[in-house]
Amino acid sequence: MGAKVNRVNEIWIEGGKPLNGETVIQGSKNAVLPMMAASLLQEGSLVLRGCPKILDVFAMENILQSLGAKTKWKGHTLTIQCETICGENIANHYAESMRSSVFLMGSMLVRNGSVQISYPGGCKIGKRPIDLHLQLLKCMGCLICEREDGLEISSPCGLFGVDFTFPFPSVGATENAILAAVGAKGSSRFENCAREPEIMHLCRLLQKMGAKIDGIGTSTLMIEGGRPLKAVEYDVPSDRIVAGTYLYAVAATKGCAVLHGVPLEEMQSIFQVYEKMGGQWEYIGGKLKVNAKNVRYPITHLVTDSYPGFPTDMQSVLLSVLLTVSGTSCVREEIFENRFLIIPELQRMGGSIATKGKCAFVTGKSLLHGACVEAKELRGGAALLVAGLSASGTTRIKHAHYIQRGYEDIDIRIQELGGTIIKI
Ligand code: EPZ
Repeated sequence: MGAKVNRVNEIWIEGGKPLNGETVIQGSKNAVLPMMAASLLQEGSLVLRGCPKILDVFAMENILQSLGAKTKWKGHTLTIQCETICGENIANHYAESMRSSVFLMGSMLVRNGSVQISYPGGCKIGKRPIDLHLQLLKCMGCLICEREDGLEISSPCGLFGVDFTFPFPSVGATENAILAAVGAKGSSRFENCAREPEIMHLCRLLQKMGAKIDGIGTSTLMIEGGRPLKAVEYDVPSDRIVAGTYLYAVAATKGCAVLHGVPLEEMQSIFQVYEKMGGQWEYIGGKLKVNAKNVRYPITHLVTDSYPGFPTDMQSVLLSVLLTVSGTSCVREEIFENRFLIIPELQRMGGSIATKGKCAFVTGKSLLHGACVEAKELRGGAALLVAGLSASGTTRIKHAHYIQRGYEDIDIRIQELGGTIIKI
């Protein structure tokens, strides 16, 4: 079975003091998951250095093992050996539990010519359909049979390169398209691709493995299929959302802290909002020095958007910061249809937030107080943690395992930053 980390039920936070410590940013969850799927495209051992030890990575590791891959951890280096991939069925309980199993469709079709997957569980933040993924795979020559317990996808004559324009720059659908196209016959041209950094990193890994991809970092990708791909070693990039979460935790507590390994160039919109709130920072010798003493201004209107816009994954955490500054802020969620789930929990802590359609209106300077709250999903859980750090008294966060899906050793990191937090 995959590497293990003890699932945490609750975390308790003693809030109300500035974060003044120092910590290091982990590897990127959303970069490493499609990289793990790419391991199926070669028959040797893919070595991923700086791999975060988080529940979503272990879940993906378990899926790869269930398909016949062998995995090994040495520190934060994960080796995935794919000489023998025998399975083609991504077992239901895996697919339902984790959205990222969707990335395996493309690489499994290249490897095996078929894949069976249950409908990936919608999660709390939205229905999470995969219609764009399926539309793309059909264009590449796949037959899709819908059964009551899931999908059976096959490419009896192999995958064919295709010209395809995404109706929406879906991150996952773009990643699946890339993974399928590198193994397809002929070339592909994808328009209106998502441009998240995780996609650029996936393309760079595939290039190192031998793929020919042009247009990396733009919304148009040209891929020459059918080139043999070899085993390589690759450094997982730092997690821009985890870095943003800790930056905003320092902002919520008006602290002064140091963050190492921050992917600055991938976080422009996150820093622009931080500066608008009054935050200051400098980057010297690989260290990000954060001075949040002057964080006091509201954000009158912010809309989440595809990269390079403000990331939807930072929206809930931003609400927690906006509760600590005076004035009214408005945040509009444009990517997911149900990403205000955490607001009732923030209200239990004294937060004054109202919602109308896609907008959340935050009345700042609500003196947050500790409370018993429940994490409902990953980034909402992180928002509760940030709110708990700024609140007076003790905050108990139940279902803290949601936070562990994306944040490695969150208690240790927050302690390094000077916060008081314990795992129960
Ligand atoms: C990725 O999810 C990330 N997950 C998400 O991070 C992130 O919030 C999201 O991209 C947007 O940046 C991983 O990388 C593992 P999408 P993904 O396809 O690929 C709709 C986190 O907290 N859509 O860009 O699922 C979809 O319902 C997670 O780390 C369709 O309608 O995102 C959503 O409303 C949460 N049909 C929107 O597009 C499709 O076929 C964006 O989805 C696909 C998507």
